[in-house]
Amino acid sequence: MNDRVLLGGDLPVTRIGHGTMRLADGPERPADPATAAIWRPPADRDGAIALLRHAADAGVTLFDTADAYALGGGEELIADALHPYRDEVVIATKVGVLRPSPTEWVPLGHPAYLRQQAELSLRRLRVERIDLLQLHRVDPAYPLADQVGALKQLQDEGKVRHIGLSEVTIEELQEAEKTAPIASVQNVYNLVTRQHEQVVDHAEANGLAFLPYFPIAMGAHNDEIAAVAAEVGATPAQVSLAWLLRRSPAIVPIPGTTSIAHLDQNLAAADVRLTDAQFARLSALEGE
Ligand SMILES: NC(=O)c1ccc[n+]([C@@H]2O[C@H](COP(=O)([O-])OP(=O)(O)OC[C@H]3O[C@@H](n4cnc5c(N)ncnc54)[C@H](OP(=O)(O)O)[C@@H]3O)[C@@H](O)[C@H]2O)c1
Repeated sequence: MNDRVLLGGDLPVTRIGHGTMRLADGPERPADPATAAIWRPPADRDGAIALLRHAADAGVTLFDTADAYALGGGEELIADALHPYRDEVVIATKVGVLRPSPTEWVPLGHPAYLRQQAELSLRRLRVERIDLLQLHRVDPAYPLADQVGALKQLQDEGKVRHIGLSEVTIEELQEAEKTAPIASVQNVYNLVTRQHEQVVDHAEANGLAFLPYFPIAMGAHNDEIAAVAAEVGATPAQVSLAWLLRRSPAIVPIPGTTSIAHLDQNLAAADVRLTDAQFARLSALEGE
């Protein structure tokens, strides 16, 4: 298995990244992570910083965040933990979603707003150039060319190295590529959420990285995943990640966790080997 993916053809990242969205609190921390508000920086800031530094020490190179996570607090947390950044660290952030309240995620693709948010991301991350700036959501209220054009302008100004898209179709990817080179796509994708199979294949065929979000389905698993996990002596989360790594060489999962033990388990998934038969059984799982 390739142990690196080249973002945009020139920026190497190791196969398992870290999604930092979970390093945030709500007004309250809900029992069900699916309802987490991602509204405030974590109360246990020291613990979150220790986890991020542990991830970098353990070889994670890609850290995914967004201006929307904790209203910018997610980016500040990364800078507090990892700045000055090691050469190999790649920060991916996103712009294009408003957070007017803990329960609302509202796309806003006004080109001037996207550029303003990127400027704020540059300050919070304490960098002069964002490695990967992703359009968090396509806003149907504005032409896609204008939204990608705003990111292209930032790229032309030297403020963005690579441009990515999030939660898009192949048609939207192709449309966006008329305006700027697209390095990555970040869509929901895991063993039981498979509506983007063709986008994975498209990314692989066209040299894009595919960053699946919810890569372990927020810890959820079914009987088949548990059975394979028992066979290979791994956890269901590890099997979910191992399946993703084998599914396509373009895939860079970005599992999120608040636990150093889970982080280590997730990284160790790179060493979990599935037989062809196990891979086929998992691949045949019904989507949601
Ligand atoms: N582009 C987008 O629109 C979008 C949307 C959502 C997320 N994202 C990105 O994708 C990243 C990943 O998504 P996610 O964090 O929501 O989903 P996920 O990685 O599929 O699941 C995270 C959840 O799984 C648990 N978990 C993590 N590792 C585990 C393990 N080894 N064993 C058991 N449970 C484990 C975590 O709890 P513990 O804390 O207890 O480990 C957490 O509740 C985010 O951090 C964010 O960067 C992007």
